[in-house]
Amino acid sequence: MDEQRWITDTVEKIREKISWVSEKNKDKIPYTTDENGNYDDRSDSTKDWNADDGLNWWTNGFWGGILWLLYQDTGNERYIDMARKCEKKLEQTFSDFYGLHHDVGFMFLPAAVADYRITGNEEAKKAALHAANLLAGRFNPQGNYIRAWNDLPDQDTRGWAIIDCMFNISLLYWASKETGDPRYRHIAMRHADSVMTHFIRKDGSVVHIGEFDPETGAFVKSHGGQGYGEGSAWTRGQGWALYGFVNSYTNSGKEEYLDTAKRVAHYCIANIPESGIIPVDFRQPEKPALEDSCGACVIAGGLIELAGYVPENEKQVYLRPAVKILKAITDTRTDWSRHCDAIVQNCTGAYHDSRHHFTMVYADYFYIEAIYKLNGTGIRIW
Ligand code: GLY
Repeated sequence: MDEQRWITDTVEKIREKISWVSEKNKDKIPYTTDENGNYDDRSDSTKDWNADDGLNWWTNGFWGGILWLLYQDTGNERYIDMARKCEKKLEQTFSDFYGLHHDVGFMFLPAAVADYRITGNEEAKKAALHAANLLAGRFNPQGNYIRAWNDLPDQDTRGWAIIDCMFNISLLYWASKETGDPRYRHIAMRHADSVMTHFIRKDGSVVHIGEFDPETGAFVKSHGGQGYGEGSAWTRGQGWALYGFVNSYTNSGKEEYLDTAKRVAHYCIANIPESGIIPVDFRQPEKPALEDSCGACVIAGGLIELAGYVPENEKQVYLRPAVKILKAITDTRTDWSRHCDAIVQNCTGAYHDSRHHFTMVYADYFYIEAIYKLNGTGIRIW
């Protein structure tokens, strides 16, 4: 099948699937599916918001993001109502903000900022600016990093920063553009500069967690985090870095960010297996053959975005591997049936978790986003 035909067919399958999945789950904010293929709900505000299945759960913006992607594609206003319902739920988290975290960017960009960008909704803008202020408040000027997570019972995380946050800082770039106040952008760029210095290795691979001394700002050490171990290359983290540095380049114009994105991209491209199926960590042992389709979709999305900022004769360097990954996912790791609410299968949260190969709503989000990018119909979220 030629490539455009494959893209058009996949878009059609996405429209069909999300049409019934959204109707079935319109009162939920899902994360994953149960053994019967039904989506869970992390939006029950009577539950402990800080529990992993609570309202503060970091992926809770992606369901709204999927609905906005579908709205911009189909023009069906039903998606606006459903997306706004989830935004209203997320706004409740401000009333007890202790449990909010560095991932407010992931929570409010695909939902509230997307709403504001598409419809000009002032309420969505207000919520997103509030979230940006919470994120800016996590910046430590000693070390120039945005603190990851909150206090943990068994670990001192005051000096921790993580690669995932390269996506959250897009909220700060957006806030500067909206308000005309450069403070947010300065924080975003200082964080990105620190990550460039301390997280990107010589070979283009990337650290997951970097630890600073929160008093002096000195860099202390790196941690393996969700990957195989210290010194390894957690694939989703490589994706957060690759795509995140492209975003920082497009939001700030700083060329070094584009160069950094290319370095990470070349590390990823050199390590994509022949099958196109992406492991949890590029440096994991051969067995067990643990996969992460979510990391695959983030890497593919980053490669497609990167291709937009290189000369015409270099574009295929990035587009070819992106399409290879997305075709492998489409052909072997998707479920288009009515037996499962999620599309993308075989995702993994962290290498050492006891559970692997399940569905994650942000895998569907990044898959759909990437397919729309190839189709030339996506909106800019990050
Ligand atoms: N941001 C956490 C993750 O990618 O799982």
